[in-house]
Amino acid sequence: MVCLGNICRSPLAEGILKSKLPEDNFYVDSAGTASYHVGDKPDSRSISIAQKNHIDISTCRGRQFKTTDFEYFDYIYAMDYANYKDILALARDEQDVVKVDLLLNVLFPGENIEVPDPYYGGTVNFEEVYQLLDKGCDALVEFLKHG
Ligand code: 4NP
Repeated sequence: MVCLGNICRSPLAEGILKSKLPEDNFYVDSAGTASYHVGDKPDSRSISIAQKNHIDISTCRGRQFKTTDFEYFDYIYAMDYANYKDILALARDEQDVVKVDLLLNVLFPGENIEVPDPYYGGTVNFEEVYQLLDKGCDALVEFLKHG
């Protein structure tokens, strides 16, 4: 799960997806395309909305997406189109490229809908992001079960 800062959307996506998958069979992680928040805890508003939904993301720490992630992950989901383009800029070949998609394309195939950046927003924006990620992760779990 990849966003820009790895403190708002992607740690939430990571926590939500982990809560829906058996941890023995799936390795889920998140990263940011930027380096501003490397080593940082998630944004307190993401921690709160997760906590409200019985998910603990407080131990996540920001890290930057790197080329070797293409070797460790089968699927790489971007939150928005800018993240998508920045990930693709690091792809080395077609095998890397086909691993990348917008998360919400799993839920709404081909529609290229973004998970909006809530960083400059308020609680309501984090609520909206949570709901989108929850639905997106439900669709992803269905896809992974049958994939
Ligand atoms: P995220 O949100 O990409 O969902 O983690 C942001 C976090 C930090 C910044 C921008 C977006 N920032 O500019 O520091």
